[in-house]
Amino acid sequence: MTALTLSTAGAATLRADALVVGVAKGAKGAVVAPGAEAVDQAFDGKLAAVLDAMGATGADGEVTKLPAPAGLKVPVVLAVGLGPVPEKDESYDEDALRRAAGVAARALSGTKKAAFALPVEDASAVTAVAEGALLGAYAFTAYQGGAKKAAKADAAKGPLGEVALLGAKPRDKEHKAAVERARIVAGEVNVARDLINTPPNDLTPEAFAAVASATAKELGVKVQILDEKALTKGGYGGIMGVGKGSENPPRLVKIAYTHPKAEKHLAFVGKGITYDSGGISLKPAGHNETMKCDMSGAAAVFSAVVAVAKLGLEVNVTGWLALAENMPSGSATRPGDVLRMYNGKTVEVLNTDAEGRLVLGDALTKASEENPDAIVDVATLTGAMVLALGNRTFGIMANDDAFRTSIHEIAEEVGEASWPMPLPADLRKGLDSPTADLANMGERMGGGLVAGIFLQEFLGEGITWAHLDIAGPAFHEGAPYGYTPKGGTGSAVRTLVRLAERTATGDLG
Ligand code: BES
Ligand code: MN
Ligand code: ZN
Repeated sequence: MTALTLSTAGAATLRADALVVGVAKGAKGAVVAPGAEAVDQAFDGKLAAVLDAMGATGADGEVTKLPAPAGLKVPVVLAVGLGPVPEKDESYDEDALRRAAGVAARALSGTKKAAFALPVEDASAVTAVAEGALLGAYAFTAYQGGAKKAAKADAAKGPLGEVALLGAKPRDKEHKAAVERARIVAGEVNVARDLINTPPNDLTPEAFAAVASATAKELGVKVQILDEKALTKGGYGGIMGVGKGSENPPRLVKIAYTHPKAEKHLAFVGKGITYDSGGISLKPAGHNETMKCDMSGAAAVFSAVVAVAKLGLEVNVTGWLALAENMPSGSATRPGDVLRMYNGKTVEVLNTDAEGRLVLGDALTKASEENPDAIVDVATLTGAMVLALGNRTFGIMANDDAFRTSIHEIAEEVGEASWPMPLPADLRKGLDSPTADLANMGERMGGGLVAGIFLQEFLGEGITWAHLDIAGPAFHEGAPYGYTPKGGTGSAVRTLVRLAERTATGDLG
């Protein structure tokens, strides 16, 4: 990963390949953001005028490259847009800083070292810029280069090599912690992205479980893996029912971080369909090319638990990864089959493409057995949620209004777009089955909420629960923007980590 250093050097004295400054949108044109005073001086105080002349407006996402004047130790100055100048006494919006740092890092891919002179007025701004830079510098190149491994560097410009953060104070405890937190969180978001981007022929349930196990052992975090034999014996009819059509058998992975002083216990449950073909209810062409992303929930849960462990938070967090591959074959579950779930309820499978709720149902029951203070599941669960909220916003459902509100606020705080969604009780009857306790598919209308109502049937009594449907934001198909690359995004990792931090400090709002 891109190296990140804190530097006490001034913007005018640091040697680097590029210098990044912020430009905001003022009432009368471009405004140079704080942190770049020395750079402005090197431009004889005319940096704003130069930017105006170059057509820079300070808009979000904007990049303007300028040749550096004599007096700076860099060849290029890169001005990134921060959006509107903040109101008097307000500071720059954290996510605007995160996005601008991400834009700069992307624009500088192939560069060895860049100095970032963005406005970092407090520790949270330091975290935002550091996170944005590390998230924006992400590149997935593991499968590029082919036969010409040696020529790999030419095939794809590597990510920005090193970011020197200016303005942060290397000896300030808070600033040091802010950078360390950013390194850990961004690092784990990037791990989730790697898992999501890894092709499904390589990232099978077994391979994913092996990654989790190796990482957990390195960190001294407990890990337990149930294989297909244990799952069959244990009565995990949902996970087995989904996985039995594949040559790559399913796994249920438990990864448990504990802290000796913890007073609270969170459980995170992730949907980990390593490939969703739809099964016998096969998806049509055009709907399956990106379905390696259907394990994004499990990737987010895994990465969040690892981040929590690396941060050493005073809270116990158990991650449950419900891993299976949904394939059609002679041994696959058929539409019409009835499965007996881990909690004993029977489910008539009307559509084998509604598989996420089946694996999650079993994992939610299992997670409930430990009686955690709250369970949060994360899943690329429904196309309906994408229709409702679009490609960049995840839906939050919960059996507790205050908990749903907390998660919504936490997501907002870390820069992840989300929106609260209801669980209307009238949608339950659509899941009635003439044959079994319930069916795995209900009304088409409100399909995202129907899925949430299905999941609720598999929770232990009295457990606080929230469900994040990340089907929209988990995988980004368009051109990169801000700190979001093409492909896996690592959606929900930052929200889960902040939820654990808030739970550890007893500050859930
Ligand atoms: N993995 C899909 C949901 C999905 C869709 C994720 C688009 C990411 C992008 C899920 O397993 C699925 O197929 N859901 C069905 C449910 C339906 C059959 C009740 C859907 O949403 O169409
Ligand atoms: Mn499906
Ligand atoms: Zn799916």
